[in-house]
Amino acid sequence: MEGKPSESGIAAMADHYKNFDPTTFFQNFVSPEESRLDKKDSLMSWKLSCLHRAFSEGDMKGDLLVDIGSGPSIYQVMSACEVFNKVILTDFLEVNRNELKLWLQNEGGSKMDWTPFLKKVCELEGRSPSEWTEKAARLRQVVTDVLPVDVHRPQPLALHALPPAGADCLVSAFCLESASPDLATFNRALGHIGGLLRPRGHLLLIGRLQENYYFVGPGVKIPVVPLNEAQVCDSLKENGFTLIRLEVYTVSQDETIGASDQERIFFVKAVKSLKVWKKR
Ligand SMILES: C[S@@+](CC[C@H](N)C(=O)[O-])C[C@H]1O[C@@H](n2cnc3c(N)ncnc32)[C@H](O)[C@@H]1O
Repeated sequence: MEGKPSESGIAAMADHYKNFDPTTFFQNFVSPEESRLDKKDSLMSWKLSCLHRAFSEGDMKGDLLVDIGSGPSIYQVMSACEVFNKVILTDFLEVNRNELKLWLQNEGGSKMDWTPFLKKVCELEGRSPSEWTEKAARLRQVVTDVLPVDVHRPQPLALHALPPAGADCLVSAFCLESASPDLATFNRALGHIGGLLRPRGHLLLIGRLQENYYFVGPGVKIPVVPLNEAQVCDSLKENGFTLIRLEVYTVSQDETIGASDQERIFFVKAVKSLKVWKKR
């Protein structure tokens, strides 16, 4: 992969994130999805279906799953919590980690209503939507920690945050391309998070293709590395992952919102090969 990671670019990205507002993020990217959950062809339905399918295929097993760059979101671990006994959520920003903790505490402090999304995942699992309360309780039970993460560090989590063998599974949604100033930095960040995963562990990566920016607060525009499918596949290969499946969703005209120029989203299921295991 061409070019070198840019340290000044990374610092500039961190600066952009100083004004990230979790509530605006939720309003821009999560709330609008609620009314479209009944439609088979909607972005959130597609994401939840991809995650459901990945976790129900029976090949992803183990004890510990880590979600990298959770933001204030939990949709990405709603299927995972039925398969893994421990889930660690992570984010670069304290505001996002605090938001996650408010939801986990379940004391009415969280303003983010994930109920429709929990109901949708229950449906995908063949359960009654009314069982969403059980799913919420299960999720709150399996999340053991909410930790700081920086994908640009060779060791993205604190030293002894994970067992020495690493996590059994990693999920990361819309994080690497939104945190990296260029392709070389994206590629290196993927290698960093890959170091957290045990050999033969699975990675589920969701991200944007050919996106240039998104808004996370009034006037807070964050640049995004515009990736294509080939670059995602090359980066996975270079970092020792074997691709199981890459799926692409094209955002429809009526789903496009002014908060980003996203048009296509990828979902990757990959497995870490034994050969290039990097010592953490
Ligand atoms: C677009 S949000 C995605 C949030 C969530 N995964 C979702 O799908 O809703 C991007 C996230 O990347 C996080 N981020 C930014 N810089 C990062 C870094 N250097 N390391 C890890 N995460 C970072 C941000 O704090 C933000 O929560």
